[in-house]
Amino acid sequence: MKGIVLAGGKGSRLHPLTQSVSKQLLPIYDKPMIYYPVSTLIAAGIRDILIISTPQDLPLFRRLLGDGSQWGCSFSFAEQAKPNGLAEAFLIGETFIDKQPVTLILGDNLFHGAQELKNISSIISQKGAHIFAYQVKEPQRYGVVEFDQNNKVIGIEEKPAAPKSSFVVPGIYVYDQSVVERAKALQPSSRGELEITDLNKQYLAEGLLNISPLESGAAWLDTGTIESLMEASQYVQAIQSRQGILVGAPEVAALKSGAITREEFKVLAAQADNSAYGKAIQSIAKR
Ligand code: DAU
Repeated sequence: MKGIVLAGGKGSRLHPLTQSVSKQLLPIYDKPMIYYPVSTLIAAGIRDILIISTPQDLPLFRRLLGDGSQWGCSFSFAEQAKPNGLAEAFLIGETFIDKQPVTLILGDNLFHGAQELKNISSIISQKGAHIFAYQVKEPQRYGVVEFDQNNKVIGIEEKPAAPKSSFVVPGIYVYDQSVVERAKALQPSSRGELEITDLNKQYLAEGLLNISPLESGAAWLDTGTIESLMEASQYVQAIQSRQGILVGAPEVAALKSGAITREEFKVLAAQADNSAYGKAIQSIAKR
């Protein structure tokens, strides 16, 4: 199974924090933001992962993540020269995708406790696209799902001024092998981007778009604004200190999903630094 983490963009809503550092390298509590989406993919059983970022930031992601072998994975890296839209990931990733199904996750999206995301391996063999829906208070900030009286999805609108529901599309998308050809047929939107929503609408028009709700107990946090960035850190701190677990740790996702053995995890723990994160890994290795 193939996975892509899209971690480019300008992060302009977080300036000056992101003036010289990529947004997806900022801390969410005790680890860099990109650890969370990478862990989500690993937990879903995805091992072959392409990281896309800007030409300036890509070397930093390479340094942070390495080739993935430490977590039983294979990581590749590719540049997005300009933020031309989320759907450009499939054009940049064409060779990597190699006519296989692929899951795209946004590098600034944090998921926790969503069981549906662990089932991606069974979804991925189906024809079409599979996306998720999550209820939020401010749907106008996202891609919004429209339902008919029978709860059938009839439309998706990107950041509508008057949202037709409070259910929005989180930044994880599972596509069949037709996605690259479909992305090639997209035209830039009025804001000059290849929109993921337009891609999803293509599948919807052909009756090939599946949408399932993430259960309301699951957490989906995005980190687009300074408030949501802070809330994400507070959420992770609260869960970790209460439960004594690590949220969004690739080592732990790799262990739990069988990408590495307990012995391999112990080796990682032995190499871990004397940081709070490193100590948490060591303590998990002793359990
Ligand atoms: O977070 C979920 C939402 O993500 C969806 O509900 C929307 O339908 C989808 O369009 C997207 O909306 P955003 O406004 O959050 O997209 P944004 O432009 O902020 O980009 C999301 C992330 O992807 C961000 O971390 C930057 C990165 N990015 C963005 C663009 C446009 C890239 O790496 N390359 C790009 O070209």
